[in-house]
Amino acid sequence: MNTQHIQAIILAGGKSSRFHTGRSKLLERICGQEMILYSTKLIESLKIPITLLVGYEREAIQEVVIAQHPQTPINFILQEEQHGTGHAVYCTQSTWFAEHILIINGDTPLLTEALLQEVMVQHLQHTATITFVTAHNTDPSLSGYGRVVHTGNSIAIVEATEFHANTHESCCINAGIYLIQRSFLQKHLNTLVPHHNNEIYLTDLIHKASQQQLLVHTVSAPFDTVRGVNTLKELWSVEQIKRSELISHWMSQGVRFHAAQNTHIDVDVEIGAGSVIGNGVHIINKSHIGKNCIIENSSIVSNSIIQDNVTVLSHSLVYDSQIYNHCTVGPFARIEGNSLIEEHTVIGNFVQIKKSRVGHHTKAKHLTFIGNSIIGNHVNIGAGTITCNYDGTAKHTTVIHDNCFIGSNNTLIAPLSIGKNSYTAAGSVITHNVPQDTLAIARERQVNKEGYISRRQTNSAPSETHQQKPPQCTEQL
Ligand code: UD1
Ligand code: CA
Repeated sequence: MNTQHIQAIILAGGKSSRFHTGRSKLLERICGQEMILYSTKLIESLKIPITLLVGYEREAIQEVVIAQHPQTPINFILQEEQHGTGHAVYCTQSTWFAEHILIINGDTPLLTEALLQEVMVQHLQHTATITFVTAHNTDPSLSGYGRVVHTGNSIAIVEATEFHANTHESCCINAGIYLIQRSFLQKHLNTLVPHHNNEIYLTDLIHKASQQQLLVHTVSAPFDTVRGVNTLKELWSVEQIKRSELISHWMSQGVRFHAAQNTHIDVDVEIGAGSVIGNGVHIINKSHIGKNCIIENSSIVSNSIIQDNVTVLSHSLVYDSQIYNHCTVGPFARIEGNSLIEEHTVIGNFVQIKKSRVGHHTKAKHLTFIGNSIIGNHVNIGAGTITCNYDGTAKHTTVIHDNCFIGSNNTLIAPLSIGKNSYTAAGSVITHNVPQDTLAIARERQVNKEGYISRRQTNSAPSETHQQKPPQCTEQL
């Protein structure tokens, strides 16, 4: 629809006192995204100019919003002291230019584009002075909402603290979304008077318009779409709804969830068809999972790309990394720090890969630390291998070229390079570069002292005349 006569104001200046966290609730993340961004992104998608009213924790809110809207000019207006939603809108006066002003509370993150479209269409069709959104809810314990009260031909919003009537008679709440003619706002907003708590309520405009027989139109919406977030409990409810929406979407795209109720999926995540997500899995921070992957229970994939046909076995962590097709990772593996694992590679149990690149068809299957390393293709890393990348001051690189075989329990002291096709013997401490096609052995040679045990027993047998002494080793090794 044509939105050129409409501008939007998002209210985000409140103190969030009902959160009791000391932080603005608008910075709390819902499925990985700060609450305020649900509103700003929604209005941006409708191509409507945005005024964002900030106050409490304004710098932090501005920073988050600017970072996510690099291309959209957003008009930030400061509300120095918080005197209610009416006062908040009044503070934005200098930015008003359009014929109609869409005002939304910044704490309603489940709003949809379809609902705002409906509000705009109906407002213009009815040439209403004010159009606002209502939702049916008779729950008398809902204390964070104003109730829509009809008396004869007049309509008003009565805030919960002042509402003492029957919720079945006034069965709708005010959702906090208003489209108002600018001329009306200009004329009447400054006539509102503060309530007992010294706050000016934007909602009092409804009664004002109604008293003047101006058209006040309502659009009803499902309560879940317009839920406000005033408390941590409401934040939790809203996040449950958002998450189940996301999971339902991925189910419809062919992704199986073993325990959807116990899985965390963020907004910017993508999952390919045929993938299976286990119980307690977190896929967060813009991660991408390819097709036909298995992510087993209690694994976390954060800010990472996992290509197709990858199996991440249980309790594995993949942070800020990439895993290419047909790899197997875990159980209990940790891949982090921009690591890259190429195709058909196996990273096994209790293996940590940090800031490293591991080539294709390579195996590090047990109890290993690979840090600051470049590992080639078709390399076998034996159990218990450690790249010693840190000397207490700086990190150093280990390079292991293609087709190497690193024996079990190796200590590889970086900086180090192991040439193509080379072997290192089990238990080696490799301190110097190994040329290609070489076997490096760096450990004490084994010495067998034959008969040692029986000699020791003879030497330590108790004599009749002497007191028994503890057995001692008299053999020179
Ligand atoms: C408001 C409505 C209520 C409605 C509900 C819907 C008023 C008086 N009441 O109540 O009828 O049912 O929303 O969710 O409007 N804000 C500021 N500056 C202020 C005060 C608030 O910017 O001085 C911002 C807040 O950050 C928030 C929004 O305005 O994003 C709404 O404020 P809030 O205190 O949450 O209003 P509610 O009590 O929920
Ligand atoms: Ca609210």
